[in-house]
Amino acid sequence: MSVTLYPRPPLAVMAATVLAGVLLHPPGAWAQAKDAFPNGCVDCHTSTSKAGDTRLSTHLKEWMNAIPPALLEKTKASVTDPSKIKGKHPAVPKAAAATPQSCMTTCHRRGSTMAPPFATLMHAVHLTGSGNQFVSQFQGQCTHCHKMDPKSGAWRIPSGAEK
Ligand code: HEC
Ligand code: HEC
Repeated sequence: MSVTLYPRPPLAVMAATVLAGVLLHPPGAWAQAKDAFPNGCVDCHTSTSKAGDTRLSTHLKEWMNAIPPALLEKTKASVTDPSKIKGKHPAVPKAAAATPQSCMTTCHRRGSTMAPPFATLMHAVHLTGSGNQFVSQFQGQCTHCHKMDPKSGAWRIPSGAEK
């Protein structure tokens, strides 16, 4: 008795499968999907995001009273001298105008000792901690913040006005 474990599908079915594969994966399929956050921070931290008003200028008003404990912990972890972190954010004139450019050219710059440099703080905020929503909802995608110029291969962090 002969048992056919893997019966061959009819030729027509095989041909249709191959054709469907070609149609679903045209030559350009490796090209990147359209970027939903071309301006980085300000395209995601909006007044109408799923989580409510998450604009950084809105957060800032809250932080001027008190930085929430979880964020404060990450803030302390991202600086060389945690004793300098007092738990409140100073007022920022025109906070909504150019994010994160204005944050990074003033206080949160590379190697800053007066405030957490954004390189460490932003990675800690978005990529660490259990239940992190940037990881669960946005797959922890580096390219939501870091954009590459396909011609030169150079990376940049876009900046813009809040929406
Ligand atoms: C694609 C969406 C997205 C982009 C782009 C993005 N963020 Fe976020 N951000 C989030 C999410 C989601 C959280 C909440 C993370 C968590 O669960 O703790 C968050 C949290 C934060 C927090 C902490 C808020 C709090 O109260 O704990 C700050 C500050 C922040 N982001 C600043 C920025 C800055 C500055 C940029 C640009 C350099 C940026 N974000 C880019 C989605 C985004
Ligand atoms: C929420 C926004 C955001 C996300 C997501 C993000 N970065 Fe960054 N990254 C920044 C910012 C802001 C800086 C600081 C740029 C500056 O100071 O000029 C930075 C700096 C860097 C640097 C420069 C090195 C340094 O420490 O100064 C590297 C490398 C880097 N990121 C890699 C990554 C990689 C890899 C990922 C994904 C795993 C990632 N980043 C995800 C915002 C982000």
